[in-house]
Amino acid sequence: MAPPKTLFVLLIFLILLVSATAFSFLFHGFNESNITLEGKAKIDNQGILQLTGRKNNIVGHAFYNKSIIILDKTNASVLQPKVFSFSTCFVFSIVSPSSGPGGFGLAFTIAPSTQFPDAEGGHLLGLFNSSNDMSSSNHILVVEFDTVNGYKDSADTVGNHVGVNKNGMSSNISEPAAYFEEGRKEEFNMEKADAVCAWIEYDGETEILNVTIAPYLEPKPSKPLISEAIDIKSVMEESMFFGFSASTGSRKASSHYILGWSFALNGVSPPLNASLLPKPPPKEKDSYYFPLVKVVIGILSALTFTLLCLLFCVTFYKRYMIFETLEDWERGCPHRLKYRDLHLATKGFVESQLIGVGGFGSVYKGVLPSTGTEVAVKRIMTSPARGMREFAAEIESLGRLRHKNLVNLQGWCKHKNDLLLIYDYIPNGSLDSLLFNKNFALDWDQRFKILKGVAEGLLYLHEEWEQVVIHRDVKSSNILIDGDFNARLGDFGLARLYSHDQVSHTTSVAGTIGYIAPELTRTGKASTSSDVYAFGVLLLETVSGTRPVGSSGKFFLVDWVLENCLLDQILEVVDPKLDSVYDEEEVELVLKLGLLCSQYKADYRPSIKQVTRYLNIDDPLPDISDWRHYDSQSTTTSLSFLEAMPTSKTSSSYSLPTRSTMSIETGRS
Ligand SMILES: *[C@@H]1O[C@H](CO)[C@@H](O)[C@H](O)[C@H]1NC(C)=O
Ligand SMILES: *[C@@H]1O[C@H](CO)[C@@H](O)[C@H](O)[C@H]1NC(C)=O
Ligand SMILES: *[C@@H]1O[C@H](CO)[C@@H](O)[C@H](O)[C@H]1NC(C)=O
Ligand SMILES: *[C@@H]1O[C@H](CO)[C@@H](O)[C@H](O)[C@H]1NC(C)=O
Ligand SMILES: *[C@@H]1O[C@H](CO)[C@@H](O)[C@H](O)[C@H]1NC(C)=O
Ligand SMILES: *[C@@H]1O[C@H](CO)[C@@H](O)[C@H](O)[C@H]1NC(C)=O
Ligand SMILES: *[C@@H]1O[C@H](CO)[C@@H](O)[C@H](O)[C@H]1NC(C)=O
Ligand SMILES: *[C@@H]1O[C@H](CO)[C@@H](O)[C@H](O)[C@H]1NC(C)=O
Repeated sequence: MAPPKTLFVLLIFLILLVSATAFSFLFHGFNESNITLEGKAKIDNQGILQLTGRKNNIVGHAFYNKSIIILDKTNASVLQPKVFSFSTCFVFSIVSPSSGPGGFGLAFTIAPSTQFPDAEGGHLLGLFNSSNDMSSSNHILVVEFDTVNGYKDSADTVGNHVGVNKNGMSSNISEPAAYFEEGRKEEFNMEKADAVCAWIEYDGETEILNVTIAPYLEPKPSKPLISEAIDIKSVMEESMFFGFSASTGSRKASSHYILGWSFALNGVSPPLNASLLPKPPPKEKDSYYFPLVKVVIGILSALTFTLLCLLFCVTFYKRYMIFETLEDWERGCPHRLKYRDLHLATKGFVESQLIGVGGFGSVYKGVLPSTGTEVAVKRIMTSPARGMREFAAEIESLGRLRHKNLVNLQGWCKHKNDLLLIYDYIPNGSLDSLLFNKNFALDWDQRFKILKGVAEGLLYLHEEWEQVVIHRDVKSSNILIDGDFNARLGDFGLARLYSHDQVSHTTSVAGTIGYIAPELTRTGKASTSSDVYAFGVLLLETVSGTRPVGSSGKFFLVDWVLENCLLDQILEVVDPKLDSVYDEEEVELVLKLGLLCSQYKADYRPSIKQVTRYLNIDDPLPDISDWRHYDSQSTTTSLSFLEAMPTSKTSSSYSLPTRSTMSIETGRS
């Protein structure tokens, strides 16, 4: 009979006791809070409680600074000691490193002390060490929010999980982080979320512990994630501290923050008001929980990098190639140059840059922008009709010729119908411009040196290079004079490129009137000896200061010199501009050599090699009386070959058009 009555009284008493011990607190931020901080925990200037920063192997604790009586022992002798109901709610935020894993987690902790001497970080969350883990003497209840899996072989095999532990890190209850929304269980990532709201409620009567989590600003889910009966009496001491612990480990370090916290003993914790809470700390971008994003970003950046590299390489390669072309001329392999550069170099081929017209086109002076080198750019308006590839090969091959007495070809460029050839720039102009300059006289030593130089250049073309190159247009206007009065033979090989343009070889004569060997008009076939013929004429021209063909058309230099030679008065032909200052032997040698070279029959002409030996007085010149072929016919032959030349083809050089016409008239008369 008594027991129901007794029970009723007891219940009344208990309710009174409960209300008597009711207690609560609420912190929106921790600016002015009754919190004790231990370890690396601190309150930042936003009022946010930071348990750990992003440093390896650190621990932080934060506890409400007064212990709270949780165990009802008042009637322990009659009833089993009882744990008071409590309810708490807090908002936490985990900021993981942008690359690599974060860790290890934070825990709502109920402990007999705020001090945890010898406790370890990492998986042990700054609460236990390996020797006291799971020891019943700890009296610690933990609700862990762990982000690293693999602690021993316990239930918390999922990294992102919520667990309830007694006295250690082996979870009694463990659930992957999730919340219920309209009956569906939504898993979510606690590290990824801006912040997480957590509610922990314990009913002392039913001994049921509820744990609920939800992403920040979501309403509280009606169904808890964990709702299980758990006997925590054995863990509790009469008076306990409530708070938080967090830790990082080696190579796994997240920042752990608490934004706000409310607590109530024997009652419902006051709700947190989001508008009063500090803003969650910003997340580091590119979390390691996004391996796909990371991979995609990695691939993209790798691609971008590769593309940039390629672009750089191509640009560099292009630049380098041009650079090399301009710099490395010595290597003797001219390349195609950029039209843009040549256009720039010659200031757009303006009149003021024009330094000459003749021999296939106009010549412009220019300064290559990339190297600052002076060049002569020969612009030929109509490029050869032959295949570009064949043509280029030929030019490239000519470009490999390198000799001190040649105007070296540095490069070429084809632009629309224009062919551009780039040569060394030679400052003193052509030999003929010096020979026939009224205000300037070349002295004998200069002339002799020039002629020897031309002979050296021709020798290189004819015999010393890998293949025989016939110049085809040896004449005084094709010989350029450099600063030291050395001769530089220009335009070599080009005549051939053009002669191929002509329909028939027999009617084609490449060369300039007065320098064309007689046999050329018949066969049209240039040879080394036709070059020697022209060189002979050049010798006579240079000594006499007289053009090969007179403007009257009745005068022919070769004949005139020969006549004087036969009359034994050869020195009569010497240029008056020399003012009788010259070495007679040398002059006589050069004049007679000129006659020897300009003989009518090609076979009787010496080779250029022999010519250089005569010029250097290595061999004596043969006696004039031995020249059987210099008969009376020579003069008429010279005239008849001029007569035979077709009008349209006579001048392949632009420099002497009127003269050739006149010669033809002379031939008829
Ligand atoms: C903090 O502690 C002081 C002194 O013990 C007390 O007056 C105050 O109410 C406490 N504040 C909170 C929010 O618990
Ligand atoms: C708890 O903190 C409050 C506020 O800082 C302080 O006034 C109070 O004395 C502290 N109580 C204990 C027991 O340390
Ligand atoms: C905490 O204090 C700082 C200044 O020290 C202030 O900027 C911040 O707003 C405060 N936070 C809260 C939640 O009161
Ligand atoms: C313990 O319970 C008994 C009844 O079972 C009651 O009479 C007594 O007052 C209680 N003790 C305290 C300290 O309240
Ligand atoms: C573990 O912690 C306990 C209690 O603080 C301490 O007595 C013990 O020496 C610690 N053990 C180790 C291995 O640090
Ligand atoms: C969890 O707690 C219950 C009740 O105290 C106990 O029976 C069970 O063995 C515990 N489980 C683990 C994994 O500790
Ligand atoms: C715990 O959750 C269960 C199931 O949702 C609920 O019935 C109970 O009232 C909850 N307990 C507390 C103390 O909120
Ligand atoms: C939250 O705080 C703001 C600002 O103090 C207040 O206006 C609002 O009513 C509060 N909301 C609740 C639900 O208490």
